[in-house]
Formats: sequence, structure tokens, C-alpha cells
Amino acid sequence: MVNEKVQAAEENLLHIYNRFPVTLDYGEGVYLYDTDGKQYLDFAAGIAVMGLGYHNEELEEALKEQITKLCHTSNLYYHENCGEAAAALTKASGMDKVFFTNSGTEAIEGALKTARKYAYLKQSGRYEFIAMENSFHGRSIGAVSVTGTKAYREPFEPMLTGVHFAEYNNLDSVKALVNDKTCAIILEPLQGEGGIHPAAQEFMEGIRKICDEQDILMICDEIQCGMGRTGSMFAWQEYGVKPDIMTMAKAIGNGIPVGAFAVTENVALNSMKPGDHGSTYGGNPLACMAVKKVLKLYEKNHIVDHVIETAAYLTEQLDRLVEKYECIKERRGKGLIQGIVLTESPTGVVNRALEEGLIIITAKGNTIRFVPPLIIEKEHIDEMIRKLEKALSE
Ligand SMILES: Cc1ncc(COP(=O)(O)O)c(C=O)c1O
Repeated sequence: MVNEKVQAAEENLLHIYNRFPVTLDYGEGVYLYDTDGKQYLDFAAGIAVMGLGYHNEELEEALKEQITKLCHTSNLYYHENCGEAAAALTKASGMDKVFFTNSGTEAIEGALKTARKYAYLKQSGRYEFIAMENSFHGRSIGAVSVTGTKAYREPFEPMLTGVHFAEYNNLDSVKALVNDKTCAIILEPLQGEGGIHPAAQEFMEGIRKICDEQDILMICDEIQCGMGRTGSMFAWQEYGVKPDIMTMAKAIGNGIPVGAFAVTENVALNSMKPGDHGSTYGGNPLACMAVKKVLKLYEKNHIVDHVIETAAYLTEQLDRLVEKYECIKERRGKGLIQGIVLTESPTGVVNRALEEGLIIITAKGNTIRFVPPLIIEKEHIDEMIRKLEKALSE
């Protein structure tokens, strides 16, 4: 499949993305439309971003009003949206303090720096990180250094020093790497990009215990799996295991670029001080209006309850496909972050699905990833399954 507009644009764009051959124009609810007016049911949500779907009028009104008022101040000057968005995030997460960034990657950078500063102030001599194989944390040198896929790191070596990779869900492999230089352990409570792998209860509890015993910080990356997607506001909350630092982005802005990291009181008191870190745009009035309004709409529309309800149906339907098709090995996931693992590359299925008017994406290990807007209804799941079955059968 080729799309002339996409091809023409490549003349000026650095060829870094293998883009799908469609030119998207606008969105409405859980549907996207291309410039020819073709409708697509969206089960990717801009990679787990558009939790509230497209063209949410209440959010748009708030953003429009903010644009006409004030978009930027720099962080030398306070504006009310910043404090209010931080209060909404601390309320939703139970964390104590928030720092706003422009993206998930920058939230990870901030989290890594915070952990190093914590160790520095304690004069513990700790600076090393334990990260997980198969993880994904972003593309800057710091974030890619803790990303557990060699192909993402290798061309950009040398990486940050002192990063070791443990096997996800294998506590012994983490224990084997812990030493008196470890300052933090970073993990996703559910690996998204890595192929939709939820953390086991004992794994989360075991990591918390190691961290508590040795004053090591636990960093949970909730950039993809957070914001209601797994059926709780943040994925770690289901385990009853609270991190010291948590990163967020994607759905917190529902399409407005914004990220954040949040810390406990203990970390806040013993880490970053004025001058240690910063961002010109991070947490600007527009981004913070988005966060503030998105969180209000989550509450008003009972998004987490809705996820729990629709996820049960999605799970049932995907399990049915696993039974029916030999080319599907298994289903994995939680809530509205699910994956089915195929016996071969899912590229053909994903491309055929697009022709059928269904947007789905892949994850590592022959996985088709389903991360729809969180406002999907059962009828959308039925429509997705019908289209997917066509794509699987061709
Ligand atoms: C778990 C996780 N961490 C970090 C990132 C990086 O976020 P961003 O692309 O906003 O920089 C992503 C992006 O997919 C992610 O899924």
C-alpha cells in the first residue's frame, strides 16, 4: 500500500518512522477519518494517549479558552493551572509532589536524575540502575540506557554507565544484580512496547522489599499503562505497592504534549533542589489546563469503572479468538491494554485491518496491541472483532 501524500512528505522529513499509508484528518469519539473521508475504528488511541477519545467538547472548550488567555509563562512565574494540575495528579495517584515535563521520555530523565540526586545527598556512593529486559522507557540517552532492547541502545553506545538488566518477573534475577552501588530499580508495572506483560504480584512486592531494606528507590513507569488503562487509575495501585518515583505522560494530556514525574515526600525532601533541573515549556498553562480538565473528566465520566466493565468483554472476545484461530498463541494484558500473540509476524494482519478500517498496532514478539480510547463501548469491541477476524482470515 502506498499513499502519495505520505510519500511526498518524506522528501522533507527525516525518514525515522515507517508510517502507515494513510493521511489522517480528524477524529470523533473512537473513530478517525482520513483526508478521503474513510472512517477507521481506532484501537491504538495514538499509542495509548487518547483515553477520552477524539473531539471531547468539554476538554476542547477549556483548551480554547486557555489559548486565548495564556499559553506560556516559563517556570520562573507561577500560574494557577500548574498548581491545580499537580494537586489533581497527587490526589489521583497518592504521590506527594509533581514535576511537569513535555513528554514521557523527559519524565524518565527527571526520574533518573532524581534518584541519582537522592543518592548524592545521602553520600551513599550509589549511582547504578537496575532496569528490566524487554522494557521501554523512551529514546533520549538516559531513557534508552534503561530500555531493555539491545537494538534500541547499540547504535548510540556508550550508554549511561551503571545500568544492569534483570529478567522481568524474575525476582532472583533482580536480587543477583543488587549491590551497594544500586540507586534505583525502574520498571513498568505492565510492559507495553515489550509485548504486553503484566508484572506478577510477588515481583512488585519483592522489588518493594529490596528497595525498603537498602534505601534503593523504586521507579514505576506508568507512561503507557497508567491513567485508568489497566482498570485502576495507576497500575501500581492494584498491587498495593507504592513506588518512590512514578512517571506519567500520554493520556494525562489526551493529545496535548505533557508528561510528569511524581515523588513521595521522602524523595521530595531529599533530592531535587532549585537549580538542579528544569524545563522551559514543562507544565505550561495550556498543558496543565489539559491535565486538570482530563482528570476532572475522568472523575465525572467514571472512566476507571467503565474500563473495568468494557475490559471484561474485550477479554472474553479476545479469548474466543485464541480458541478459534490456530495462528493466535495467547492473549495477555489487563483492562484496556491487551495483546494477542501470533505465531508469525502480525504486519500483514495489521495492514489488512487498516484496509478494513481498523487501526491496531504491534508490540514486541509478534504481538498485536489493543490500547483503544477508554470510552469504547461493547458495540465498538464487536466491530473491532469483526474487522480483525476479516484481517485474520485473508
Ligand atoms: C512505558 C513508556 N515509557 C516511556 C515512553 C516514552 O514516552 P514519550 O514517547 O512520550 O517520550 C513510552 C512511549 O511509548 C512508554 O510506553
